[in-house]
Amino acid sequence: MNLENLIASLKLAFSQQLEKADTLEKLEAVRVEFLSRKGKLPEILGSIKTLSPEDKREFGPKLNALKQELEKAFIDKKDNLERQTLETVKKQLQYFDVTAYNADQLFGSLHPYTYLIRHIENIFISMGFAVADTPEVETEFCNFEALNIPDDHPARDMHDTFWLTLPGMLMRTHTSTAQNRIMKQQKPPIAVVSPGRVYRYEAVDASHDFAFMQVESFFIDKNVNMGNLLALIKTLLQAIFEKTDLNIRVRPSYFPFVEPGVEVDMTCPFCTTGCGVCSQSRWIEIGGAGLIHPNVLRLGGIDPEQYSGCAFGFGLTRLAMLKYGINDIRLLRSLKVDFLKQF
Ligand code: PHE
Repeated sequence: MNLENLIASLKLAFSQQLEKADTLEKLEAVRVEFLSRKGKLPEILGSIKTLSPEDKREFGPKLNALKQELEKAFIDKKDNLERQTLETVKKQLQYFDVTAYNADQLFGSLHPYTYLIRHIENIFISMGFAVADTPEVETEFCNFEALNIPDDHPARDMHDTFWLTLPGMLMRTHTSTAQNRIMKQQKPPIAVVSPGRVYRYEAVDASHDFAFMQVESFFIDKNVNMGNLLALIKTLLQAIFEKTDLNIRVRPSYFPFVEPGVEVDMTCPFCTTGCGVCSQSRWIEIGGAGLIHPNVLRLGGIDPEQYSGCAFGFGLTRLAMLKYGINDIRLLRSLKVDFLKQF
């Protein structure tokens, strides 16, 4: 076959194949067959080396034209196909039904803290309390001095503190920081509940975390007494665990910001004779409480001769773990969907 015929039949074969290619994959196969380094076009172009000078003069421009023609046809076809694909996708998206059932759907769920905090807030709101949210990044003053814990006080050692590089600033170690902040904003009677995150510089294991939740509550008015405090605590715990026979006891304890100060235990909500949750003791430790120290009231701008107050601070993380039967504190900050899906 002479070169003229070869060129003609290559052109024909190429245009037929190109015509048939109706997807980008098929088009790629055409490119490989004809235009790639080992394809039919380079093969025919290479044959110029074997021609006589006169034939070179004749076929040189023809082969050049052939190369340009095939490449242009290929690019046009590719543009076309790409445009078509885009149109198809656009059309499909136009009819995409966002409400259609999807078997693989991942449903969102609320964190157990969210459920418990809502529950607690509702109980307190029903008793006429306000919900307060105060900063996690705190001043040394609100976390310590305003709570009757001066610089050299040994109670500071109990709060392993994350100090910030900003002078006098820290991550709050307890929610009692809300006390001074709210006292300065409001006049008594004050009745507040304040759940929130606190930080302690501690090694993490199944029952300790460096960030956990507490719930603080305080009530300041004329003649507030221990009876008010205990009634408040009992009402809260009974509502949380949905048990009217849940009881509490208090043991004398020391916190610089209350006098007297107590530690609060509740009867185990899960047994009457001792179980694994209460380590067979039938009592579970919940947190601290007491009557607000006169110094704390004074630093909050409230006259302790006229007013008295009670306060408690409980481990909200502890309560959540008890209520929902969570046995590893790390799960609460794990962000694991499998964990969250259970609630
Ligand atoms: N803030 C104390 C703590 O974190 C708990 C507490 C609050 C004690 C209010 C008494 C009154 O340990």
